[in-house]
Amino acid sequence: MIKQTMMDSYCRGTLWLILTLFTLPYLTSNDICPSSCLCIFMGAVKCVGYSITDVPKQLPLHTYTLQLNDTSMTVIHEQSLANKSLLLRFSLTNSHLHTIHPQAFYVSPQLKSIKLSSNDLSVVPARVFRPLTTLEQMHLDGNKLETISPDLFEGLAELKELDLSRNKLTSLASDVFDGLTNLTFLNLGKNSIKKLPPGIFHSLTNLRQLVIYNNELELLEAGMFDELVSLEELKIHHNKIANLPPQVFWTLRNLRVLTLSSNQLQAIPEKSFYNMPKLSKLTIYNNPLLSLPDQLMGHMPQMREFYLFTTELTTVPANLFANMSGLLHLNFHLNYKLRELPSDLFCCLPNLQKALTEIQ
Ligand SMILES: *[C@@H]1O[C@H](CO)[C@@H](O)[C@H](O)[C@H]1NC(C)=O
Ligand SMILES: *[C@@H]1O[C@H](CO)[C@@H](O)[C@H](O)[C@H]1NC(C)=O
Ligand SMILES: *[C@@H]1O[C@H](CO)[C@@H](O)[C@H](O)[C@H]1NC(C)=O
Ligand SMILES: *[C@@H]1O[C@H](CO)[C@@H](O)[C@H](O)[C@H]1NC(C)=O
Repeated sequence: MIKQTMMDSYCRGTLWLILTLFTLPYLTSNDICPSSCLCIFMGAVKCVGYSITDVPKQLPLHTYTLQLNDTSMTVIHEQSLANKSLLLRFSLTNSHLHTIHPQAFYVSPQLKSIKLSSNDLSVVPARVFRPLTTLEQMHLDGNKLETISPDLFEGLAELKELDLSRNKLTSLASDVFDGLTNLTFLNLGKNSIKKLPPGIFHSLTNLRQLVIYNNELELLEAGMFDELVSLEELKIHHNKIANLPPQVFWTLRNLRVLTLSSNQLQAIPEKSFYNMPKLSKLTIYNNPLLSLPDQLMGHMPQMREFYLFTTELTTVPANLFANMSGLLHLNFHLNYKLRELPSDLFCCLPNLQKALTEIQ
């Protein structure tokens, strides 16, 4: 009996789903879809083309996602987003956008996602995002930002994802990310950042991925990563880092990926990679390393990929790989000054599948 009822409700459920799927497109097509736009039935509207100069005024009533791409819209006006109270995700990309009215988002405080990637923004007004207290995603990548007002992200406590990559940032204020306790992804890659203040990341206790590659960082401040206790990926390759402070990574107990390649490191402090039991990928290739300390790698049973090529090393400690028995891929070639290797160096890597290790 129970089974029968379940079957009935299952069939009814399926019928209802089929009915919904077939009627919805017809319902929404009764709404006006603006020219140059495609109105997709799940509440998404996509508009493409140079004839678009502002956000379409008339959108189907239940529009939750609006994507404008490749348009001629260079300004987000005070009223551009007015009367769109159901809109949750707004993107305006590849459009030479250069100006955002300081009150542009006051009419749409409900937004959860804003993507303004690949535009010409060189300034973003100081308090422009202030009303967006439930914003979760913000992409400002691929613009011309040179500075960011210290209070630009103030109050965005729900923000989870912030992409500032591919701009022209040279520095950031130490409090610019204060209060972003829900942030899980931060991308600062491909800017011209020379220096980051020591306390800049101290609120980001939920951050999982931090990307700072392709900048001009010359040093890492002692303690700068100390509060990033949830961090899983730290990508700081392709900078100009010449020194690592001792123990700078020690609180990153959840780290899985660390990229330090293509910097200016000649030495690495003793025990730098201790306390990273989950590390599975480490790159330090393309650094002018002269020597490595006898104690460098802590217990890292999940280590899979290790890249240590193009250095100036003449030898390496015999126990270099002793704590990474799970290693699958080792790139250890192009170390032209390496002449002699300790005899047992590769003794304890039973799982190694791919190793590039030619020695002159
Ligand atoms: C936007 O247009 C560019 C070309 O100008 C294209 O490469 C990109 O994939 C488009 N993005 C979206 C989200 O449609
Ligand atoms: C928004 O709606 C109000 C009232 O319906 C109207 O007066 C106003 O012109 C609309 N604004 C825009 C930008 O469409
Ligand atoms: C952060 O996220 C959690 C759940 O992911 C949520 O409960 C909390 O309210 C959010 N906001 C802040 C300010 O932490
Ligand atoms: C391996 O890791 C343990 C625990 O972190 C450490 O005590 C030991 O010195 C390491 N061994 C080597 C050869 O570095």
